[in-house]
Amino acid sequence: MATKEELKQVLRELNEQGDVPAVKARAAELLRGVDAHTLSLAEQELEQEGMDDEALRKLCAVHLEVLGEGLEQQRPEVAAAHPIGILMDEHKIILQNLEELREISDRVRAAARLSEIEGQLPRLKAISHLLLDTESHHRREEETIFPRLESYGVTGPPRIMRQEHEELRAKKRRLAELVEQAGSTSYEELAKELAHVGHYIATTLKDHIYKEDNILYPTALSTLEPEEWPEVLKEFEGIGYCCFTPH
Ligand SMILES: [Fe+2]
Ligand SMILES: [Fe+2]
Repeated sequence: MATKEELKQVLRELNEQGDVPAVKARAAELLRGVDAHTLSLAEQELEQEGMDDEALRKLCAVHLEVLGEGLEQQRPEVAAAHPIGILMDEHKIILQNLEELREISDRVRAAARLSEIEGQLPRLKAISHLLLDTESHHRREEETIFPRLESYGVTGPPRIMRQEHEELRAKKRRLAELVEQAGSTSYEELAKELAHVGHYIATTLKDHIYKEDNILYPTALSTLEPEEWPEVLKEFEGIGYCCFTPH
């Protein structure tokens, strides 16, 4: 198995020459043999050694691309009632809605006037409400899982995930505003921003979920002590679930 130092070296190279196929291939080989916890620690050390957030996030995207299917094999298997099982089931519902959001955004972009997409507005409104309702999902991650990971020294991944929550929060609010405004402003302006914000959320949140399912959650499962999970579940109940949380 690759050591953390070897991993850091290849991540540095990926960051500097991520578009060179030979570098990507070597990185893929090394990354396939590494567990999520070591990967999180390696990324975090790079951050402490001065790699900035922008580079780290770019790196994250490149290594996800490089890993492809290999990473999905790390997807945790947990009971549906386990806190991670609950979060992952919520992700599935969010992903279905993001797919629809992407399709509607495409239609909005292609349509010349509001009347052509009016039939889509109720669905768009429902999706935007569901996305606003995901706040409790993000809060559960931020208030119960991230602080525990941080207490074990895993600080990098939670910090990046928090930043993404922040950015997404603003875009989700903007999407809801735009849906409300449909019909009261010029279609051209509305359509342009709506399609842009819709695509941004559909892409960024999908990637975010991918990183959590395949890196952050496996890291949490291998880092937290087993007896901490009942406490996490109790805290989940205190914060509350989304209206779409499966039971
Ligand atoms: Fe998240
Ligand atoms: Fe999540």
